Amino acid sequence: MHLLLTHLTHLTFMTTILAIESSCDETAASVCGDGKILSNIIASQKVHEQYGGVVPELASRAHIQNIIPVVNAALQIANCKLSSVDAVAFTQSPGLIGSLLVGAQFAKSLALSLNKPLIAVHHMQAHVLANLIANEKPSFPFLCLTVSGGHTQIVLCESPARMKVLGETIDDAAGEAFDKSAKLLGLPYPGGPLIDKYARQGNPDRFHFPEPQIPGLDFSFSGLKTSILYFLRNAGKSNLYKEEFMATEDDRKEFIQNNLPDICASIQQRIVTILLNKLKKASVETGISDICLAGGVSANSGLRKAFEEIGKKYKWKTFIPAFEYCTDNAAMIAITGYYKYMEKDFSDLSVTVSAKAEW
Ligand code: KG4
Ligand code: ZN
Repeated sequence: MHLLLTHLTHLTFMTTILAIESSCDETAASVCGDGKILSNIIASQKVHEQYGGVVPELASRAHIQNIIPVVNAALQIANCKLSSVDAVAFTQSPGLIGSLLVGAQFAKSLALSLNKPLIAVHHMQAHVLANLIANEKPSFPFLCLTVSGGHTQIVLCESPARMKVLGETIDDAAGEAFDKSAKLLGLPYPGGPLIDKYARQGNPDRFHFPEPQIPGLDFSFSGLKTSILYFLRNAGKSNLYKEEFMATEDDRKEFIQNNLPDICASIQQRIVTILLNKLKKASVETGISDICLAGGVSANSGLRKAFEEIGKKYKWKTFIPAFEYCTDNAAMIAITGYYKYMEKDFSDLSVTVSAKAEW
């Protein structure tokens, strides 16, 4: 027994990557050994809840407080010494500049002091590659619908290094559509998980919201937001603006209170059909049937269920990362870092962070 333990504690890997993610309001670190995730630590920032959204300055300050304990915990849980780290990966873009800077400067200092390569990672590409963490992986080329608080994209992934955005939102992201709808319903931020929760008890066919007609593989969610706004202002009479339909404040509140599960289920169903109809179109156009989900909104139970159903119907091979790899995390940065390490795709210490990302 003692021998076995000694053996386990000295597991060595050919390639050990330490990864840091700090693009928004989660400070996260992960260690990956030969493509296997050994630890995945996330410190979420509660400070933003009271403001109904992420406050960039507060996010940067919280990252500064969290980063050392989070990295130490990731190393400890992975049973990894700093001297065993072969490269340091970090999120370079896109994100909040102040937040990105904290992770980037930390990663650069660490890489410099360890004299190991630095790997700059594109956060949205990392969401896609989270699908390569599980043992059962999609085959290349695959399609990925990435749905998060800031992005909605259909990505064609030809290899870990070659990706192309086939379609994306022209206004709000899917996560924003959930969060803004929740706000209109008087639910706290982030409202996406709450809409999911109430929708489970509701009838998705009770209320009808229009599907936008956007050409190609692009998405739009701003029209849906407007129709939900009028629908609630009219206390469910219509989703069009008409002076005579306007309800009193009390009637609106009562309408929401009495119909919350059905309203949430109907909103969720419309967001899900907007997403999956485009994904179906992308599969038909490319002939690709290995299809993945990624990003925070892929935690939505309605989307997961409808995705599996459509997959069965059209004989797709479907993949969804484990829940902890869907929302922002450093394991996805670590797995991307691992593939980049294999290609010797390293960054110079002069690399800068960027709010917007090039593909
Ligand atoms: O990927 P993510 O963690 O962060 C970004 O990079 O944006 O995504 C966060 C988004 C938020 O808009 C949140 O409301 C949404 O994901 N979200 C959900 C659910 N869980 C998280 N939306 C709907 N249903 C959920 N269960
Ligand atoms: Zn994200």
